[in-house]
Amino acid sequence: MPYQVIIPAAGQGKRMGAGKNKLLLPLAGVPILIHTLRVFEADAECSGIILAISPSDEQQFKSLLKEYSIHKISSLVQGGKERQDSVFNGLMDVRLNEIVLVHDAARPFIKAETVHKLVEAASQGGGAIVAVPVKDTIKKAANGRVAETVERSSLWSVQTPQAFRASVLLEAHNKAMREQFIGTDESSLVERIPHPVSIIEGDYDNIKLTTPEDLYFAEAILRKRKESGV
Ligand code: CTP
Ligand code: MG
Repeated sequence: MPYQVIIPAAGQGKRMGAGKNKLLLPLAGVPILIHTLRVFEADAECSGIILAISPSDEQQFKSLLKEYSIHKISSLVQGGKERQDSVFNGLMDVRLNEIVLVHDAARPFIKAETVHKLVEAASQGGGAIVAVPVKDTIKKAANGRVAETVERSSLWSVQTPQAFRASVLLEAHNKAMREQFIGTDESSLVERIPHPVSIIEGDYDNIKLTTPEDLYFAEAILRKRKESGV
């Protein structure tokens, strides 16, 4: 089933501390941004990529798109102050009768197989997210003391991509904008409509590259995939 994808790539990568957008950092010699874009470039179901970038990265990103022959960019939009603003700017360019995915440029290990399951679920229910069961014991705390142990069996660690009927995501963003609500993912905006969101179980290796040690994990994931020919 065809889908379009909005890829927010307009962050500053402050926690990575590289002094530039972390998406430019290489993994096995190829920029993180390109690893992520290649997944969608190679997926026949993906009808177009809407990439949100910051003006300071524009020249460099454009030359990378050329160098690595990424042809599926249907629009380049300007990023905003928050990730949510970048996604909103991307939404202005989506086709309203199609499923739209939002996927962080900083998650290069997403598998097409998971994307397809997600798109299927979103086309049936209007909204779906990729998540994995929480492995750690999670506690709520107050003033440095444990307040409560949260029942783990109902907890999920949420990733991207997240997929929605485009009209649903647009409604959610417009409502959030009106009410000045900022969420850390698209689902949190859609839940507020309210509109149901289903969960597709993904993989633990679909990590978001956030801090420097994540780059070691990333190299290890790439090595493992190379060895197993995935
Ligand atoms: N992003 C964006 N626009 C913003 C902020 C973030 O498009 N205003 C993008 C990032 O480029 C990244 C994704 O949203 O692909 C997830 O954000 P995050 O991992 O927090 O990246 P950064 O915001 O770049 O990192 P940091 O928060 O450490 O500065
Ligand atoms: Mg950020």
